[in-house]
Amino acid sequence: MPALVLLGAQWGDEGKGKATDLLGGSVDYVVRYQGGNNAGHTVVVGDQKYALHLLPSGILSPGCVPVIGNGVVVDPAVLLSELSGLAERGVDTSKLLISGNAHLITPYHTTMDKVTERFLGKRKIGTTGRGIGPTYADKINRVGIRVQDLFDESILTQKVEAALDQKNQILAKLYNRRAIAVEQVVEELLGYTDALRGYVCDTTLLLNDALDEGKVVLFEGGQGTLLDVDHGTYPFVTSSNPTAGGACTGAGVGPTRINRVIGILKAYTTRVGAGPFPTELFDEDGDKLRTIGGERGVTTGRDRRCGWFDAVIARYATRVNGLTDFFLTKLDVLTGWERIPVCVAYEIDGRRVEELPYSQTDFHHAKPVYEMLPGWSEDISGAKEFSDLPKNAQAYVKALEEMSGAPISAIGVGPGRDETIQINSFL
Ligand code: GDP
Ligand code: IMO
Ligand code: MG
Repeated sequence: MPALVLLGAQWGDEGKGKATDLLGGSVDYVVRYQGGNNAGHTVVVGDQKYALHLLPSGILSPGCVPVIGNGVVVDPAVLLSELSGLAERGVDTSKLLISGNAHLITPYHTTMDKVTERFLGKRKIGTTGRGIGPTYADKINRVGIRVQDLFDESILTQKVEAALDQKNQILAKLYNRRAIAVEQVVEELLGYTDALRGYVCDTTLLLNDALDEGKVVLFEGGQGTLLDVDHGTYPFVTSSNPTAGGACTGAGVGPTRINRVIGILKAYTTRVGAGPFPTELFDEDGDKLRTIGGERGVTTGRDRRCGWFDAVIARYATRVNGLTDFFLTKLDVLTGWERIPVCVAYEIDGRRVEELPYSQTDFHHAKPVYEMLPGWSEDISGAKEFSDLPKNAQAYVKALEEMSGAPISAIGVGPGRDETIQINSFL
């Protein structure tokens, strides 16, 4: 039975929250497999708007079990405040399940994130400052603290001691900061134990059993393909694997179980933080996309950098994720342009390049080669069928599909659940 991965095909903020929520009513489990509260997923249900950071967007669908997989990094304070915020708004959060193997973001990780960025100065990544990178670094360095450590005070204390031994040296000697006391961290973490205990289980076993029983499982990515630590625009990336393979390691299911991989693709491009972005606009068109598209970060409130659609990026996302479908979002935002430029290739040092260059030096020099597509002026937000779209909007979608290498199976024409044109079913 279906296991679907839904992930960002660009630099994040493609509309994953909306797409996940749309499927939430038809799936049994929604699983976050990487990232943490660096994500900001907006879901609009009727007149209610929700901003989710750590919780899977499936939490808003009553029949669906939300799962935080082992690959996620969990800030327990953020988790509990997100849960209580939703409970206050009448959302049932009791079904949530959390992997005992997920790593914890502690106050020293957030401190390290901020001081490292300050130290980098002009070369900073522009992280969300949520402690994501330092927590994954500790995981790989084998000095991380896991959710299950909360239930054994002695192990927790030993692990915090081991982690802080090193970190306090760095904080004091390199960054001129005060050392962090082991007892203080342990006490804070133990304070979350009772509130979290009921949610924690072996999510890998549970998800594999669910798939054996024919249940439908949706894996919801945070961030996006070009922010992937292996396949993105390194070092201007996040510290996890949002790409499709990350769903396997981050949830403990084998690749043979995944049937469908859906790439969420904005009809133009945005990026938050530093790093290369060939189609970025610094003119009125960029401002217009930002204003009409409401392109302001859900997590940090930063303005998003905006630019035209980049088909080279979309093709790359198809390749590294094995995409079976695209969900094209925010087509409505492009209404009102007479002509819409679409980047079909790059020019690098006088050469035309059709695929994403593997060399960062080349990518930094890449200039977009644009093809002009005719725009439309009709309001498309009420369109329910593909044929309801103006001819030029249909042609825009078809052109993007042809350039991007996978079928566009759904189109977003507004932020709401029902503002979607479904072309092929995802299930
Ligand atoms: P995510 O991080 O991928 O979940 O995306 P964000 O929530 O950070 O940003 C996407 C924004 O676009 C949110 O404000 C959504 O409500 C909104 N959105 C999603 N799909 C559409 C769409 O098709 N049209 C419009 N106008 N807005 C959309
Ligand atoms: P969603 O899930 C857009 C960016 C940050 C920064 C880089 C590293 O809403 O699409 P980090 O804090 O992860 O170490 O920052 O990654 N970034 C995002 N950009 N959407 C996101 O999440 C992002 N999560 C991280 O801006 O450039
Ligand atoms: Mg977002």
